[in-house]
Amino acid sequence: MKIIVTGGAGFIGGNFVYYELKNHPEDEIICLDKLTYAGNLETLEEAMKNPKFKFVKGDIADRKFVYELFESEKPDIVINFAAESHVDRSIEDPEIFLKTNVMGTQVLMDACRKYGITRYHQVSTDEVYGDLPLDRPDLFFNEDTPIHTSSPYSASKASADLLVLAYYRTYKLPVTITRCSNNYGPYHFPEKLIPLMIANALADKPLPVYGKGENVRDWLYVEDHCAAIDLVARKGKVGEVYNVGGHNEKTNLEVVKTILKQLGKPESLITFVTDRPGHDRRYAIDPTKIHNELGWLPQTKFDDGIKKTVQWYLDNRNWWESIISGEYKNYYEKMYANR
Ligand code: NAD
Ligand code: DAU
Repeated sequence: MKIIVTGGAGFIGGNFVYYELKNHPEDEIICLDKLTYAGNLETLEEAMKNPKFKFVKGDIADRKFVYELFESEKPDIVINFAAESHVDRSIEDPEIFLKTNVMGTQVLMDACRKYGITRYHQVSTDEVYGDLPLDRPDLFFNEDTPIHTSSPYSASKASADLLVLAYYRTYKLPVTITRCSNNYGPYHFPEKLIPLMIANALADKPLPVYGKGENVRDWLYVEDHCAAIDLVARKGKVGEVYNVGGHNEKTNLEVVKTILKQLGKPESLITFVTDRPGHDRRYAIDPTKIHNELGWLPQTKFDDGIKKTVQWYLDNRNWWESIISGEYKNYYEKMYANR
């Protein structure tokens, strides 16, 4: 089987490439990635040594390029991770989110129709459901929860999901969608909460917690997400959406304090800063469907996963220090200097 993995130089896509090479050594993986600020070829250094793996630089929204790639490679499965993924950046500048997340998805699916595939899988997010109140712990997102987005990022991901379902209904394109909660683990770009807090704590810099730090996220170790995508893309029912999450709800403050404790750093580093506009209060996934239909269950508990993650950042300083010493400095200054 030949699989095109888009966005494989990013956080989850990179972890997925390694998951596939390990668990399906018979398959060929072609990673298509534009190498935006979030894409990093160093993440794929080991994969590059594997003859079953190939990297191609390109934009999923570039129709001519995508068609040529499909024509020459004739993939069986396409798994679309490629996206602009950071909510704060989408608030600053929404346009690229529409180009990549919506138009890019359309181009990929048009290529799938033109050249024929057995499965197009869309990697989506629980953010398409909007948020839940903090005082209703009994409520969860299931696959029938209405789409109700908050940020330009989540609106772009929801638009893409609707388009994917339209291509199924109208053209019978064999699609599946997974909507997952917040991931954490190796190769997570340092603009996101967990790696940002690890990097700042190690440098004894203030840890910028938005608002009061009481927003809740449902954390899933990235390898568990990869296992879910692999299952759904190969065995999930065509035309269906599957929610992915591990009942691991934590407030942001709890997460930040756990990181500080593990690194032996003082809580006095925590600094409350101006809240994110439109900040979603709580995400919480009901993963009953993927469990009942496909037997998926998360394998990594938060306490173990966060220990492994902190250790990975300690052991792989080169990977993230080279990121935060470059263009990222300007981003950090712009987003946090006067917050
Ligand atoms: P990321 O930002 O770390 O990586 C995105 C990758 O896509 C990068 O390698 C980037 O270079 C590439 N890319 C961006 N635009 C492209 C384009 N036009 N053409 C080709 N490649 C392009 O993102 P991530 O956190 O790994 O997220 C991957 C996917 O999973 C996204 O679709 C995101 O919406 C979804 N998701 C993320 C999370 C999470 O917690 N991070 C949770 C649920 C769903
Ligand atoms: O739920 C899935 C989503 O999770 C994915 O679709 C997104 O691609 C991914 O980025 C993530 O979105 P969040 O906005 O939840 O992740 P982020 O790491 O940006 O923020 C997590 C929480 O931490 C959120 O409540 C905002 C808060 N936060 C974040 C940053 C970067 C802070 O308090 N301080 C910060 O500096």
